[in-house]
Amino acid sequence: MSILELKGVDSGYGKLVIVRGVEIRVGDREVVTIIGPNGSGKSTVLKTIMGLANLMAGEIRFKGELINGKRPHELASIGIGYVPQLDNVFTSLTVEENLEMGCYLKPKSQVRELVEEVYSLFPVLKERAKERAGNLSGGERQMLAIARALVLKPKLLLLDEPTASLAPKFVAKVLEKIVEVRDLGVSILLVEQNAKKALEIADRGYVMAAGRVVYEGDAKDILGNEELSKMYLGKAA
Ligand SMILES: Nc1ncnc2c1ncn2[C@@H]1O[C@H](COP(=O)(O)OP(=O)(O)OP(=O)(O)O)[C@@H](O)[C@H]1O
Ligand SMILES: [Mg+2]
Repeated sequence: MSILELKGVDSGYGKLVIVRGVEIRVGDREVVTIIGPNGSGKSTVLKTIMGLANLMAGEIRFKGELINGKRPHELASIGIGYVPQLDNVFTSLTVEENLEMGCYLKPKSQVRELVEEVYSLFPVLKERAKERAGNLSGGERQMLAIARALVLKPKLLLLDEPTASLAPKFVAKVLEKIVEVRDLGVSILLVEQNAKKALEIADRGYVMAAGRVVYEGDAKDILGNEELSKMYLGKAA
């Protein structure tokens, strides 16, 4: 069974329809990537899942259960983590304070342990625990944003361009971390501009254009498809 399933999803902002007829599924412990040009609706798909865009038609299921219209904190409490594209850490707070805030749904008595657990996955964050998030490098900041979503132990993690504007070395590091997270048992839906790199770590991919899914398939088939490569993978090739 899929952990996440979108069927016939139309969504947008107010009355404006951006995404049309989208069908996407994420299997247990899969890394699935959504790629496509700027403005094609990738972020809107994630926002729709999180109840942050207006779902106008279709169904969204998490572990088989309909989650249409649920609020972000409800989705967090049932096991969906979300790292938005922008403003995903509190820059004026320290690394540790950001992680503690990420535990907002857990009893205070568990916070210390949950934070220590993510430190074991992200040792660099432990080293920088008392540093303000605003002083971190781009790569460290993305690690913090991911770690902040992981403190609640989600089963599904939605990541919106975690490698945007990072130097190639840090792109590779962040993507390696994403694979590590998947290996811990978390399913991942990854929106990426670095399409080629994302496909290299993904099991399957969806290509979006103008609000629709125009191609879906195994990541390696998309990578090996000359026409798709020319159209969508040029930037990162
Ligand atoms: N809050 C909003 N209100 C109205 N229109 C919006 C809003 N957010 C996004 N849009 C529009 O929806 C379309 C899709 O945007 P979206 O952010 O989903 O694209 P994207 O594929 O994530 O692009 P990018 O690669 O640039 O992040 C764009 O035309 C954008 O202008
Ligand atoms: Mg986007």
